[in-house]
Amino acid sequence: MGPATAAPAPADEHPPAAALLLPADKRARWEHADSLAALEEAPGRDRSEHLGGRFERSVHYNQAARGYLALRDRGARPTLAVGALVVQHHYAVGAASPSVTFAMLKVADAGPAAERWQFFVLDTELRVTTVAAPAGCGSCHGAWAPDAVFGPPAAATLQ
Ligand code: HEC
Repeated sequence: MGPATAAPAPADEHPPAAALLLPADKRARWEHADSLAALEEAPGRDRSEHLGGRFERSVHYNQAARGYLALRDRGARPTLAVGALVVQHHYAVGAASPSVTFAMLKVADAGPAAERWQFFVLDTELRVTTVAAPAGCGSCHGAWAPDAVFGPPAAATLQ
């Protein structure tokens, strides 16, 4: 057994530390999975920096997150409403269906990114893969992105 006070995973550790991963038969369906079908898709696909840069991404957002597209303009600093949901699918290069999905739900207006936003890592069946909130998501997003969101795929996409 390791010590009870495990050090947080380093910010660049993807996927989350193995100790945080739930075995497939212990995973529950993500509580927001049903809202996915109603999300808007941001145009374009590009390479994600997550997971060692191996995947292409598509991004999907709800009405409360409609300021998200403005982040395409350099220097834009939109603040998304509480309830904003942004979902990013990660695809093996050329694949039609995602291998892993990351999501962010805005739950508060103030506080550090990891408290304003809930972060999720979902498997191909939209089940939550981690025991606790995945480490590192909020610190990288909070440090580098306005309101903790980086923005949609660049105009120059991978097609
Ligand atoms: C080291 C920095 C870093 C870490 C850690 C990180 N991300 Fe990201 N994330 C990014 C960057 C950069 C983007 C922009 C697109 C891309 O490269 O994937 C992004 C994009 C996203 C998006 C699309 C919304 C947006 O910001 O434009 C979601 C959702 C997301 N990340 C969720 C997560 C989750 C969940 C975790 C933790 C498991 C996480 N991220 C960890 C850097 C990071």
